[in-house]
Amino acid sequence: MTETVLQLDNVSKKIGQKEIVHNISFDVRKGEVFGLLGPNGAGKTTIIRSIVRLIKKTSGEVHISGVNVDENFKDAIKNVGAIIENPEFYMYMSGFNNLKQFARMSRKDIPQERFVEIVEQVKLSHAIHNKVKTYSLGMRQRLGLAQALIHEPDLLILDEPTNGLDPQGMREFRELIRSLAQNGTSVLISSHLLSEIQQITDRFAIINHGKLTHIESMHELEKEAKVTIQLEVSDPEAAKLVLESLDIEIKAQVEQQLTLELASDFVPEIARSLVKANIDILELAKVHVSLEDRFLALTNGGETK
Ligand SMILES: Nc1ncnc2c1ncn2[C@@H]1O[C@H](COP(=O)(O)OP(=O)(O)OP(=O)(O)O)[C@@H](O)[C@H]1O
Ligand SMILES: [Mg+2]
Repeated sequence: MTETVLQLDNVSKKIGQKEIVHNISFDVRKGEVFGLLGPNGAGKTTIIRSIVRLIKKTSGEVHISGVNVDENFKDAIKNVGAIIENPEFYMYMSGFNNLKQFARMSRKDIPQERFVEIVEQVKLSHAIHNKVKTYSLGMRQRLGLAQALIHEPDLLILDEPTNGLDPQGMREFRELIRSLAQNGTSVLISSHLLSEIQQITDRFAIINHGKLTHIESMHELEKEAKVTIQLEVSDPEAAKLVLESLDIEIKAQVEQQLTLELASDFVPEIARSLVKANIDILELAKVHVSLEDRFLALTNGGETK
């Protein structure tokens, strides 16, 4: 049986008369990267804040590693690391001293080597003894990650963490998250951009107007998404006949090059059929995967679960 590290059951939050989060249930398994995806104002931060009790939920239950956060908060939270909105630092202290200060508040005894290790992992060794006020946004994000990870939590919660990271930083961030998950850490990560977390999440929930509308695995999403393919063949006229017989739409043709749009899991079938009809495939390239389109369709599409 897969171990559940985080479990939400019917979590709701009302502010005044307004229910900003409505009956949210999902779970995050050991070693899984789970995404909360939704547009601005959807309720992602509110869900995350209720998990770690930064706000009081109106109803529902949250369990972390089997411990109910309302019954035994200290035990539930001791194996959680989180970055929620912008992490706050002592600006006139060095990154290293911020980290030390933060570690003192954690209930665990953290050995000296762990500081060096985590600072290296988030690639901040070169600046860790400089004052935080001299840090760029991306460097502050990295320091936030180091804080969240210093005590080696079982569950890492990140609310829109890639804000301020450059492409290189994004890539390092993705690698870090994947390697943490491989080593058994569970990660809950929110974003309003699918493209930002597409490569790292195993499953995701779509949040819209405070409701959970869909849970899907990235693998399923990729299978359902359409891809645009550029295909260069020896005999385009014969190829068109084969493709038409398979009900594939040809979007464009330039000499021997055909542009097609199809479900991504259908690509091998096309290749096989063309080869069978003695048509040589000179080149086959994916030019566009419409995951974002599929995501938008899910976000706007009803409340089917
Ligand atoms: N303290 C509050 N009082 C009143 N309304 C609030 C409060 N906090 C949040 N809201 C409302 O609840 C909704 C959800 O907000 P939340 O911050 O959870 O969204 P989000 O998904 O994190 O958005 P973003 O992507 O912009 O961070 C918004 O409509 C917001 O205006
Ligand atoms: Mg938010």
